[in-house]
Amino acid sequence: MKHVAVLGYGTVGSGVVEIIGRNKKELANNSGDEVSVKYILDLRDFPGDPYEDKVIHDFDIIVKDPEVSIVCETMGGTGAAYTFTKACLENGKSVCTSNKALVAAHGPELLKIAEQNNCSYMFEASVGGGIPIIRPLQTCLTAEHIECIIGILNGTTNFMLTKMDEEGCDYDEILKEAQRLGYAEQNPEADVCGYDTCRKIAILTSLYMGKTVNYEDIKTEGITKITTKEFKYAAELGRSIKLLGISKDLDGKCLALVAPFMVSAKSPLYGVRDVFNGIMVTGNMVEDVMFYGRGAGKLATASAVVADIVECAKNVGKNVPCIWKDEAIEMATDADKKFAYFVRVNNAAKDKFAASFEIENTVNIDEASDETGFVTKEMTEDKFIEVVETFGEDVINYVRMF
Ligand code: HSE
Repeated sequence: MKHVAVLGYGTVGSGVVEIIGRNKKELANNSGDEVSVKYILDLRDFPGDPYEDKVIHDFDIIVKDPEVSIVCETMGGTGAAYTFTKACLENGKSVCTSNKALVAAHGPELLKIAEQNNCSYMFEASVGGGIPIIRPLQTCLTAEHIECIIGILNGTTNFMLTKMDEEGCDYDEILKEAQRLGYAEQNPEADVCGYDTCRKIAILTSLYMGKTVNYEDIKTEGITKITTKEFKYAAELGRSIKLLGISKDLDGKCLALVAPFMVSAKSPLYGVRDVFNGIMVTGNMVEDVMFYGRGAGKLATASAVVADIVECAKNVGKNVPCIWKDEAIEMATDADKKFAYFVRVNNAAKDKFAASFEIENTVNIDEASDETGFVTKEMTEDKFIEVVETFGEDVINYVRMF
């Protein structure tokens, strides 16, 4: 019997306990032993809950119990979750988590502690919720030189952008709807400002490049400036707008960016709608591989945590290695980034704009409008920003093309 302790009985933690109960047979078959929840650590009591008798409030009980070989950290945050994870790994207990904030902030350190103590630190659920991506990168795709990863990694913003595109909803209205449906938090910053996507693309980059990307070094723009107007222009251009996390290996230098992009209808990412996530990995041999599914939600995310528990159950007393090392990756600058840009320009400045950039295309959504949409030819980001800034408020908004 493999005894598991669950830290945090919230949405994902209770999903983990539910799956371990409901899929008992599958877990026993796949791991070669029975898997059972021995403790649930939470500050609260859960009277009437079927697992009420497993709830404890003292972490020391878990860390001192030699029967517990696997701990599932579903507390979130980087405070107690960090302290408890470290203590478990130092005591030879493998830790499985959905906590992307902790993985992005302390991943290599925790992986090293796991290695030193013959146990494992696993975080499949930290990126893409229920979509398998972390393990495929470390197993099925290991014959590849990964050239880039481009993903829609945040379900909340993808839901909002889909509704703005397909139903013409405005940003404030759809944000309230996302909050009502429980997708967006009351403070929606992490999702709408792109911070969540940023941590996820940082984790994926570190895994395929083998060195650490500090997520704070990734230029991150959210969706807060996107309006229904940008979607009208996008439709004229046969495109939609998606929040993308982009990571490219430029001969050992990492080009990473989080921003809304006008995505062509020809891209497989165009069809990733609603709360779904899609992650496209490009290898030098296999070329494009696409991962698609539910990037959030109780049972989808918990399923990925439990898959990690099974992997740990098969490897008790051993470290499952991970190539991510505590060595900084050199980051590309804006001079290395090349995009075409869609730009909304006040008509008062449109002639000057057309003279300042190489223009690929001009778009108008309304004859009577006092603005014009331009698509520039591909150019480096540093040059684009340098020139666009000289237009001040005459440039209303811009969105990169993909
Ligand atoms: N807030 C995240 C999302 C949850 O909407 O994708 C999963 O990481």
